[in-house]
Amino acid sequence: MRRTCHRSVDSAEYRNYDLQFSIDSSNTEKIAPFISCLLFVFLLSSPAHQSFWSKALALPVAKDGWTSQYLTCIHQRPPPVPLSLVVDLGGWHSWVACDIPEYISSTFRPSRCGSAQGARGTQGYCRHSCLGSPAVPGCNNNTCILIGENTVRRIDFPGGLGSDGLSLPSTDGSNPGNIVRVPQFLFVCGSDISLFRLASGATGMAPLGRTKIALPLMLSSAFSFSRKFAICLPSSNTSTGVIFFGDGPYNLLPNVDASQSLTYTPLLSNPVHTYTAAFGGEPSYEYFIGVKSITVGNKLLSLNSNLLTIKSNGHGGTELSTVNRYTVLETSIFAAFTKAFISEAAARNITRVGAVRPFEVCFSSKNIPGTRVGPAVPYIYLTLQNKDTIWTITGSNSMVQINNDFLCLGAVDGGSYVQTAVLIEGYQLENNLIQFDLARSRVGFSNTLLGRQTTCGNFNFTSTA
Ligand SMILES: *[C@@H]1O[C@H](CO)[C@@H](O)[C@H](O)[C@H]1NC(C)=O
Ligand SMILES: *[C@@H]1O[C@H](CO)[C@@H](O)[C@H](O)[C@H]1NC(C)=O
Ligand SMILES: *[C@@H]1O[C@H](CO)[C@@H](O)[C@H](O)[C@H]1NC(C)=O
Ligand SMILES: *[C@@H]1O[C@H](CO)[C@@H](O)[C@H](O)[C@H]1NC(C)=O
Repeated sequence: MRRTCHRSVDSAEYRNYDLQFSIDSSNTEKIAPFISCLLFVFLLSSPAHQSFWSKALALPVAKDGWTSQYLTCIHQRPPPVPLSLVVDLGGWHSWVACDIPEYISSTFRPSRCGSAQGARGTQGYCRHSCLGSPAVPGCNNNTCILIGENTVRRIDFPGGLGSDGLSLPSTDGSNPGNIVRVPQFLFVCGSDISLFRLASGATGMAPLGRTKIALPLMLSSAFSFSRKFAICLPSSNTSTGVIFFGDGPYNLLPNVDASQSLTYTPLLSNPVHTYTAAFGGEPSYEYFIGVKSITVGNKLLSLNSNLLTIKSNGHGGTELSTVNRYTVLETSIFAAFTKAFISEAAARNITRVGAVRPFEVCFSSKNIPGTRVGPAVPYIYLTLQNKDTIWTITGSNSMVQINNDFLCLGAVDGGSYVQTAVLIEGYQLENNLIQFDLARSRVGFSNTLLGRQTTCGNFNFTSTA
């Protein structure tokens, strides 16, 4: 059963490739958390397949135990093939490895050069002929080529654009309901090589960026629902989080509509894309918010505020992302932040211990009692557009448990030349509901749901279809 969403893993080729390049061979363990895909398979076998109106959709999201990547499961093609895709919040094109397993579908359509579909991708070019015989997905004559990017390893590759059917579960906000279909889901065909360093079992990436062909706008336009989506990432490989497309309610057990507890901050634009595959001058499809100041415990950090502002060359600012594990800070921000955290922790008699890679700041857990919102360490406050709009990061999202004796502050020093000064990453977003309202250009955040006695693992995935 558990094979459904990771057939490719069993491909000997992939395994060799993985072993050849990866030093941490622990990665060869192939038992990945595909609870969510199993649920989904069950849903798909339910009789009611409807293709019409749907107000919202709910996709499962699992955390991979080895890489900490977040994986979602969607079904593509008829007959539906479950695909396990790494969630990339700022991603711009969906891409799927078309060679493992071999892509077989009666409804795949290559996007012809000059077609409207080709034009919907950004910065493509035309490939007049592909000498494979017979033509297969990813190798067709007269097709649009787009640059796909494995954003985890920053590997760019040119791939044929094509479309195929996609099946997803609708939701009333409380449970998954009928399966709905998108007849023409556009994606770039990658290959097994493009999958390098993605979680075992992953067959591509699911982008949530602001392009027309990334999932949020593609789905809201296919079903005419609100241009909104929300992520709720799980904190472990034993629970299943959820991504909602469309409006709330976003109900988590026990009866908490998490969409009711959002605080909003403007979504900012960055005039320059940060991805390597982007061509000069292209705007960013990623999600930036305006952090004005940072406070740790009682200490307001003294920062070069210039760094916190997005400049015309695209540098600076604060981005929300899911492709790195932990928050990445520009060197001077990292220094001020860790200094304040160490002194605020010392004021609580918390003992600092030696660094544990990749973290610099670690503590003995002896004087750190557990609380509902994680280890009792100084809170981190991100002040946004005004002094009353504050994103609070508690111990559950700031501290990483190394073992029974040590905890580390989950942030790393990105160096002086980072493009983005503050990159808030997956670990810091777990068990928070974050809504991206593209119509109103704003981001809603819940702060930790643990404070409301629920978690992202509490969406009821029992289908009511
Ligand atoms: C969850 O991740 C841990 C490592 O963090 C691993 O030991 C365990 O086997 C994983 N469980 C599953 C179900 O993948
Ligand atoms: C693709 O183009 C090549 C060279 O132009 C040609 O030999 C081949 O037959 C074409 N393939 C298809 C499927 O049309
Ligand atoms: C820290 O330890 C000192 C000396 O043992 C004690 O006087 C003080 O109350 C402690 N402070 C806190 C916040 O626990
Ligand atoms: C989950 O939803 C199903 C279907 O509506 C319901 O029967 C079940 O009681 C729910 N589970 C919980 C824990 O509420």
